[in-house]
Amino acid sequence: MTAFEIIQWFVYLFASVLFVRGLHYMNSPKTAVKGNHVSILGMVIAVIMAFVGFFYDTEGKRFTADFNVTALIVVVACILVGAIVGVRLATKTKSTDFPQLVSLFNTVGGGAAALVALNDIMNTTDDEVSLVLLITAGLGVIIGSVTFSGSLVAAGKLQRILSGKPAHIPGKTFLTLLNIAAIIASFVLLCAQPDQRSLWAIVALALSFIYGLLFVFPIGGADMPVVISVLNACTGTAVAMSGLALGNVALIVAGALVGASGMTLSVLMAKAMNRKLSAVLLGGFGGDDAAAAAGDGPQGTMKETSADDVAMQLAYAQKVIFVPGFGLAQAQAQRDLADLGAMLEKKGIEVEYAIHPVAGRMPGHMNVLLAEANVPYEELVDRDDINPQFPQANVALVVGANDVTNPAARRPGTPVSGMPILDVDKAQHVVVIKRGRGTGYAGIQNELYFQDNTQMLFGDAKKELEEIIAALKELDA
Ligand code: TAP
Repeated sequence: MTAFEIIQWFVYLFASVLFVRGLHYMNSPKTAVKGNHVSILGMVIAVIMAFVGFFYDTEGKRFTADFNVTALIVVVACILVGAIVGVRLATKTKSTDFPQLVSLFNTVGGGAAALVALNDIMNTTDDEVSLVLLITAGLGVIIGSVTFSGSLVAAGKLQRILSGKPAHIPGKTFLTLLNIAAIIASFVLLCAQPDQRSLWAIVALALSFIYGLLFVFPIGGADMPVVISVLNACTGTAVAMSGLALGNVALIVAGALVGASGMTLSVLMAKAMNRKLSAVLLGGFGGDDAAAAAGDGPQGTMKETSADDVAMQLAYAQKVIFVPGFGLAQAQAQRDLADLGAMLEKKGIEVEYAIHPVAGRMPGHMNVLLAEANVPYEELVDRDDINPQFPQANVALVVGANDVTNPAARRPGTPVSGMPILDVDKAQHVVVIKRGRGTGYAGIQNELYFQDNTQMLFGDAKKELEEIIAALKELDA
């Protein structure tokens, strides 16, 4: 190793330490922002080091002015465009749209890792090529390409450009297994025939692209949390594989961190949704039956109520459970809900917030939203702890939550079947605030809305909460 390579290795190692430290700070909301800053610093250091390496001659001995000017212009232009687009997207995107942004970042990350690995396979000379390089770069191509196409479809579904319902692909299981067998065959041939490595790498790239489509298209909206985190884990793994092929320690550590934390999150999400990860990886666990059953909505009528009436019910309750969901985030009504909670508590009414792990569009979305509104942490109660309390609640006030309260999840044959829900239907009275009769993210109607003990308060969550608060104040006057 030359002196420069040793320095580069230590700088990458330092950047990796910053990544680990940054991730550690993200354990708590109090230190999460600091964690982001530390990780950004690590990434800036790693990028500068990689850039400096550009001016080092290919034999790794000295700095040289004899570098490829066109390549330098392309690299600088890409860094500038990437930085401008990235900063703009991250600052302009509403928090409710973060999942599709994360999916787009996964698309770019997976695609970049696949291209880096492909370049390594195609541009390494016959003398330098090794089995280790072919295995690691080959896996980088495959995983990166699956992530690219899968994340693109996921982003389309989350943005509602593509239908959120599970797509029906005739012979899906057979096609998926055939596709997986073909990918394995191309990978084996890539390793066994180094002289044909470019051909087999391109074949593996194309087949993996198709697998990404087969993987995500049949998955319904309600199951997207698991898919996003699996794809996130794939991005990290692809980057780590490219890092192994390039011998770049920063890429290996950063990729491994993303891969391991993404996989941990996938396992937690799958557990929260009562899904099997193996079924996810084989593509589509909502299944065709679920898609078909989605058409048979619940029968009956929805009973409407008014803000005045809801205020009256709340004022005479002893125990109230708030059930926040995606609509609360969409309306940005968290502070109004917190104000309502504080008013009721002042009257001696017990108030709790029921938190479902996949309510909203991000892991921990409701926790973050309500923490922003300064709701005391002890009032946020997890699903397992709050469910036994619903029968004692005089009123359950559902604010923009839908799928996570749908009793249809308790029987088979629907896209939400098997998903553990909040037992809102067991409360003495249920009031649901939502704008209209629209379905939840899974695309099915909610049986809760047709129950005898449920009343609907149609309107924007923020406006309706403001009206309830005003009506409560009038009652007190
Ligand atoms: P959803 O099922 O998405 O339902 C949200 C409801 O809020 C809708 O029915 C909508 O009805 C209402 N709404 C929207 N804007 C509103 C506003 N301004 N004011 C009042 N209501 C409004 O929400 P959920 O119960 O939180 O469930 C989350 C779903 O997203 C699950 O299916 C979950 O699997 C999926 N998902 C979750 C994640 C993560 S990690 N949390 C990621 C991706 C997908 P109207 O249109 O009639 O108002």
